[in-house]
Amino acid sequence: MKQITCRLFSRGDGTGAFQIYRNPSRFRTAKRVIWLMISIAFFSFQVLIPPAIATELDVGTRTLPLNAEEQPIVLTLDQIQRGKQLFDSTCSQCHASGTTKTNPIVGLDPEALAKATPRRDTVEGMVDYLHNPTTYDGERSIAELHPSTASSDVFPEMRNLTDEELRAISGYILLQPKVIGQKWGGGKIYY
Ligand code: HEC
Repeated sequence: MKQITCRLFSRGDGTGAFQIYRNPSRFRTAKRVIWLMISIAFFSFQVLIPPAIATELDVGTRTLPLNAEEQPIVLTLDQIQRGKQLFDSTCSQCHASGTTKTNPIVGLDPEALAKATPRRDTVEGMVDYLHNPTTYDGERSIAELHPSTASSDVFPEMRNLTDEELRAISGYILLQPKVIGQKWGGGKIYY
């Protein structure tokens, strides 16, 4: 083994890697160089992570209003990922980037959701909408027009969604303004 190591790493003039390990001061130098390389790799990795992902990981960002009584809910990363998948497959054809294709005034941006009756800018408020969607003034049901669990005969994609999944979709929607700002629901101004 020793011989193999010598042949592989030693340059024969005493400056090869094998020699370094036999010489304490060179060993220290080698250790320093290795640590430097690890630090460079670590810090460049930090810089290269997109800021959106970094903030998503932050507990403060993942904390959202659960209901109108201001109780909080902290989304897990799994919930956010599941919410995104389900939003993309079930909602995004009409609500791309938080806008509403056929009714731009009733978007999924925080302002529109907060001014709805009842308010829809909480996780439970939005889950309620997905069970029983109403007009913006809350006067009439629009379940026959909007995907909901109450109208899953018309919208079969809503049939198998559990409450937990509806919470994940709602959480994902409410999280987006905190991650990408006004681009969520901002429509043509940004795209
Ligand atoms: C077929 C198109 C369509 C699909 C699919 C759709 N929506 Fe909607 N959504 C609309 C329209 C249109 C409105 C505005 C209704 C109105 O006029 O009040 C709306 C309104 C909303 C609102 C109320 C917004 C507010 O500001 O009060 C929420 C919340 C919502 N949708 C969530 C969802 C979610 C979540 C999904 C996926 C599960 C989804 N929508 C799928 C078309 C759609």
